[in-house]
Amino acid sequence: MKFREVFALAAFATLAISLGQAGNVLVCKDIQDCKTCAESYIHILGFKEDCRWCLETNTCGGPISCPIGKPVIQKDAFKCPTPYKPTAGKRYTDALGRSLFAVATAVRDSNVTECLRNVRPDISFSRSYEVECDGSGNLCKGIIAKSEEAKALYVAYKGSTAGKQVFAEMLHGLTAQLGAWEKFESQDAGVINYFHTAFYRLFIDSGMEDDLVDLMKKHRNYRVWLTGHSLGGSLASMTALHLVKKKSVDKNRIRLITFGEPRTGNIAYAKEIEENIPFRYRVIKRGDPVPNMPAPLNPAVLTAAQYNRQAMHYRYLVHYDNNMGKGDGFNVCSVADDLGCRNTAMSNLADHTSYFQVDQDDFVRNHCPRGQLI
Ligand SMILES: *[C@@H]1O[C@H](CO)[C@@H](O)[C@H](O)[C@H]1NC(C)=O
Repeated sequence: MKFREVFALAAFATLAISLGQAGNVLVCKDIQDCKTCAESYIHILGFKEDCRWCLETNTCGGPISCPIGKPVIQKDAFKCPTPYKPTAGKRYTDALGRSLFAVATAVRDSNVTECLRNVRPDISFSRSYEVECDGSGNLCKGIIAKSEEAKALYVAYKGSTAGKQVFAEMLHGLTAQLGAWEKFESQDAGVINYFHTAFYRLFIDSGMEDDLVDLMKKHRNYRVWLTGHSLGGSLASMTALHLVKKKSVDKNRIRLITFGEPRTGNIAYAKEIEENIPFRYRVIKRGDPVPNMPAPLNPAVLTAAQYNRQAMHYRYLVHYDNNMGKGDGFNVCSVADDLGCRNTAMSNLADHTSYFQVDQDDFVRNHCPRGQLI
C-alpha cells in the first residue's frame, strides 16, 4: 500500500470513530459537541434516557445536568447552534427591517398604493388580493408590489381580520391540537391547518401566484421579498417555500423577513425552510407572545413520533430585547427555536402590536407617515 492510501485509511478510521460515538453511550458527560450529544442516549435502570446538551454551560449530560429552567437540546441535532455568518449583503439590519415592516403594514390600508406612496415612495406598483380565508368570514389580504429603484418585487400579507385578542386565543387553542398538521410541500413537513387553508385561498386561488410568476419572469434580476406580520408572517414563509419547491424562482433570489411569526409548522417544516431559503429572518420584539405559540411540549416526555409533531421555529431569530426604538440593538440567535435566546415567559401582548413602536392601525389611519418608521 502506498503511503498516501495508508494515510487516507487512517484518516477515514479516525473519522469513523469520532462519528461512531452517537447512539447508545455509557456516559453523556464525555461528549464534547452538541450534535453527537443530541443524537446519543444512555440506559438508566433499563430506561432509555437522552443525553442533553446544556446551552448555558456548553456541556453534555443526563437528565439533571443543566441548571433548572435553562434550555437543553436533545433528540435532534437540528436544534444545535448554527453560528450566524452572513455573507456580504445578506445581513439583517435595522434599516432593512423597518423598510420591510413598512410594506407589511401598508397591506392593512384600504388604499395600499396611497400608503406606499408616503412610506415607500420608491414602490411604483402594487396590487391587492383579499379573500375570505376561513369558515368564520374573516378576511385575509395580500399584496404584490414592485420597486424599480430597489430592483425588488414584494409579497406582503396581513393577518386575519379577527381581533388581536381573538387571534392570540385561537393560537392558544391550536396548542391543544398539536399533531393536526396539514401536509405542506414535502412528505413530512406540515403546517397548522388554518394557515394551510388561508394560503391556498389567498395565494393560489385568488390569482396572486400567477401574477407574481408573471412579474418574476418579466424582472429576472429582481429580488423577491416576502414579508408579513403575525399570521401574515406564516403566510410569507409558506409562500417562500412553495415558490422554491415549485421551482418558480431560484432560492437565492428569495428574501424572507417576518415579524411576530407564530410557530407555523412542525420540525420537518422548519428544516425545509432552512434547506430551501438561505435568506430568512424572523424578527421578534421582546415579550411578544405570538411566536411562543403553538407551544412545544417538553421533549423529555415525548416519544419519537410525538417529537416529530412538535411545533418548531426556523433560524434566524432576530430578537429585539427592547422597545424597538430608533437606534435600539438586536441579537441574532444561533439556535432554531426561540427558547434558547428569549425569555419566553416574559409575555406581553402589547409587544405583538407595537413593532418599531408603530401601532399598525394608527399608522395606516395617519396615512403612513414615513418619518415615524424610516
Ligand atoms: C388610492 O389613492 C390614490 C392616490 O390618492 C388614488 O388615485 C386612487 O384612486 C385611490 N384608489 C382607491 C381604490 O380609492
